[in-house]
Amino acid sequence: MQNRMMITGAGSGLGREIALRWAREGWRLALSDVNEPGLAETLKLVRAAGGDGFTLRCDVRDYSQLTALAQACEEKFDGIDVIVNNAGVAAGGFFADLSLEDWDWQISINLMGVVKGCKAFLPLLERSKGKIVNIASMAALMQGPAMSNYNVAKAGVVALSESLLAELKMQEIGVHVVCPSFFQTNLLDSFRGPTPAMKAQVGKLLENSPISAADIAQYMYEAITKGEFMILPHEQGRAAWALKQRNPQALYDEMAAMADRMRSKSRSE
Ligand SMILES: NC(=O)c1ccc[n+]([C@@H]2O[C@H](COP(=O)([O-])OP(=O)(O)OC[C@H]3O[C@@H](n4cnc5c(N)ncnc54)[C@H](O)[C@@H]3O)[C@@H](O)[C@H]2O)c1
Repeated sequence: MQNRMMITGAGSGLGREIALRWAREGWRLALSDVNEPGLAETLKLVRAAGGDGFTLRCDVRDYSQLTALAQACEEKFDGIDVIVNNAGVAAGGFFADLSLEDWDWQISINLMGVVKGCKAFLPLLERSKGKIVNIASMAALMQGPAMSNYNVAKAGVVALSESLLAELKMQEIGVHVVCPSFFQTNLLDSFRGPTPAMKAQVGKLLENSPISAADIAQYMYEAITKGEFMILPHEQGRAAWALKQRNPQALYDEMAAMADRMRSKSRSE
């Protein structure tokens, strides 16, 4: 029976809600984040929800911290069944204004953090015939304006997941990739970008989500149980993706119009 899960970025938002959803099924959880008070709170909630586990500080940029986390799962749980590469940060800004440092920072967490998580845990997953769950974003599929570094990092997570889906099939390791649209969490706290006004614009998008992080965790639980590979929890996201597959130019035109609107708005502020 599979019942051991590791989650990065488990001290807040979606990571915490995933922990709670699986805790309700009695799973044991290895909770990691750079936010230690957040982790302690998640573990408390996990125990109240019927699960148990441990916390370990882990910065996903540092491969040695991820291998130490894998080692801790080995020692405390005798292995792992599911890993959720969820830790991530927010970014915004037009390409012309983003610095190369903005790019390095974004790629090192949102893309390379996932690559390193998969690599560090692969030996354990080979043994358990476990599952990899990578948290990408609708940004991976839609490439909205003024967030090119975030779009590229998340598109990389989808490409990595598709690559692993094919490569790991023989080893019977399952792969899932989750692409939510915006939803309310603490993601804005990590926002980095050259245009401070853009932070407020992203904040409005998060606030306006029709579904919560808990709804997304529930949707993921059902989709993973059914064995779905690409998981799109927002109804609007599923519709936009279907439209882009049918008529990509319509989406490109919409994104160009959106970029124009954002540029005139930021000029008038
Ligand atoms: N909120 C949204 O609108 C949205 C939409 C699509 C995808 N996502 C993705 O969902 C995931 C979870 O984000 P959230 O919305 O719950 O935000 P959140 O800020 O509430 O949670 C993210 C967690 O990741 C942790 N983290 C950040 N950098 C880290 C690092 N280097 N190492 C380890 N942990 C680190 C943070 O401390 C935080 O606890 C992210 O990958 C994000 O890109 C979020």
